[in-house]
Amino acid sequence: MRTLVVVPTYDEIESLPVTLDRLRASAPQVDVLVVDDASPDGTGELAARRAAGDDAVHVLHRSGKDGLGAAYVAGFGWGLERGYDVLCEMDADGSHRPEELSRLLERLAGDDAPDLVIGSRWVPGGRVVNWPWHRRVLSQGGNTYVRLALGIGVRDATGGYRAFRAATLRAVDLATVESHGYCFQVDMTWRVLRGGGAVAEVPITFVERAAGVSKMSRAIVTEALGKTTRWGLRHRWGQLRSLVGRG
Ligand code: GDD
Ligand code: MN
Repeated sequence: MRTLVVVPTYDEIESLPVTLDRLRASAPQVDVLVVDDASPDGTGELAARRAAGDDAVHVLHRSGKDGLGAAYVAGFGWGLERGYDVLCEMDADGSHRPEELSRLLERLAGDDAPDLVIGSRWVPGGRVVNWPWHRRVLSQGGNTYVRLALGIGVRDATGGYRAFRAATLRAVDLATVESHGYCFQVDMTWRVLRGGGAVAEVPITFVERAAGVSKMSRAIVTEALGKTTRWGLRHRWGQLRSLVGRG
């Protein structure tokens, strides 16, 4: 299984080298693609230097900050073109511990193998370390809303530590993904489930970043709430129409 980990970056000059070191040490057989949105702090140049000295590290430079979703769509496209079998998501800031990647990959390769594995903070055994109370409330509240609005069982649909099969991503029409911010995660979860795919969650320990700042913003929350509500309503409306149509 050729595996690629896509790491989106925006101003992660302090965190990225540590994350790359940990990832290369704990999963040496896995390739890495850094997708940098022209970070003003020079993260892109740092990634380029790492790529020059390590065949397993690659970098995709984008022209400006265009959101997590667009970065992943570009990174997945890069990986699918190059024939990777498994494509993963991981934050650059150390919150997704590289040492836990093997657990996600094992689950993806397991017997009743799912189409998408999410490293989950909100299943038994999952943990969050050093998060302020308002981030906990936002994440747990947001995930509860997503579960109710879409009628799904996933506990951490906003989580960004993931492993997809290439075939799963090919079945999703990535060109039509419009989610810019973190609702990209909900969007992808919903697309996999709607396509009849299976989603599994494995508990992770999410550790808040030690350096740099979060890119979470009010606009990101607003986009996620609005889009999730729309997807949910459209789905229920479709269900209702097919009921009435049959009656
Ligand atoms: N290329 C690019 N472009 N990367 C971005 C952008 C962007 O516009 N915005 C954020 N990133 C990168 C960051 O540099 C980091 O590597 C990763 O995306 C996550 O961003 P953070 O800012 O660290 O996110 P967080 O810690 O607040 O949010 C966490 O929780 C979210 C909600 O559950 C992350 O785990 C998210 O993945 C998750 O969706
Ligand atoms: Mn973070």
